[in-house]
Amino acid sequence: MAEYEVTELFTVPREPIVLAPGAVHVPDWLPVARQHDLVAACRDWVRSAPMRHQVMPGGGRMSVQSVMLGVNRTPYRYGATGGAEVAALPDWLVDLGARAVADAYGMVDAGDVGVPEVEDVVRGFVPDSALVNYYDGAAHMGMHQDKDEFSAAPIVSLSLGDTCTFRFGNTETRTAPYRDVELRSGDLFVFGGPSRYAFHGVPKVFPGTGGLHLGLKNGGRLNITLRMTGGHRRAH
Ligand code: SIN
Ligand code: MN
Repeated sequence: MAEYEVTELFTVPREPIVLAPGAVHVPDWLPVARQHDLVAACRDWVRSAPMRHQVMPGGGRMSVQSVMLGVNRTPYRYGATGGAEVAALPDWLVDLGARAVADAYGMVDAGDVGVPEVEDVVRGFVPDSALVNYYDGAAHMGMHQDKDEFSAAPIVSLSLGDTCTFRFGNTETRTAPYRDVELRSGDLFVFGGPSRYAFHGVPKVFPGTGGLHLGLKNGGRLNITLRMTGGHRRAH
C-alpha cells in the first residue's frame, strides 16, 4: 500500500500577502457557498443585459466579455452596454465590497499595508459600480491602468471559476517590473493607495481549473471588480 507524506496529501494554506504598498491578495476569501451565490447572481445580471466584447479605444475587440452594474456614464470606457439598461448595484454587493477592503487591509500587518490614512480609506469605501468580466479559456486582458473613475478609492477584485495568472505591475510602465500571482476561485485582490494606478492584466486563464465546478457551462473565469467611480459627484 502506498504511504504518503504530509506534503503529498495536503495543500499548504495560502496566506494573505501585500504584493506592493496598497495591493493585497487574500486567497480563498469567499467561502464556496458564497462563490456559488455570486455565480447565480451573475447569471441573473447577464439575463437582463448580455455580456459584450468591449471595443478598446484603439478599435480592437477585447477577448473578455463584460457587463456593468450600477453607474454607467461616459466616459466610463468599459461600460458600453449598447443601449441596454444598467442593472442596479445590489446593497449586499456594496456591503461585500466594503468588507473586502476592510478585510484585505486588516488581515495583513498594519505596518505593511502602505496606505496612508488606511482607516479613512476603509471607512470611505462605498462602491457604486461593478464590472463583471468573463474569460473563456482563450481570453486574456492586456496590461492597463484603471483610470476611468473619478475616485482614487481602491479597486476590489473577486475571482470565480478557472484559475488565472494575474500580472500586477508598477504605476509607470506596462512592462516590468511586475509580479505574477495566481488568482483562484474565491480569491480577493484589493489595490489602492500607492498601487491604485498600477498597470495590471490577465495574461492567461487555465481551463478546467474551477469554472465547470462552479456551474459555468463552458468553464472559464468570472471576475467582479467593485469600484467607486465617483461619477455621481460629477455633473455631465
Ligand atoms: C480588470 O482589470 O478589469 C480585471 C482584472 C481581472 O480579471 O482579474
Ligand atoms: Mn483593470
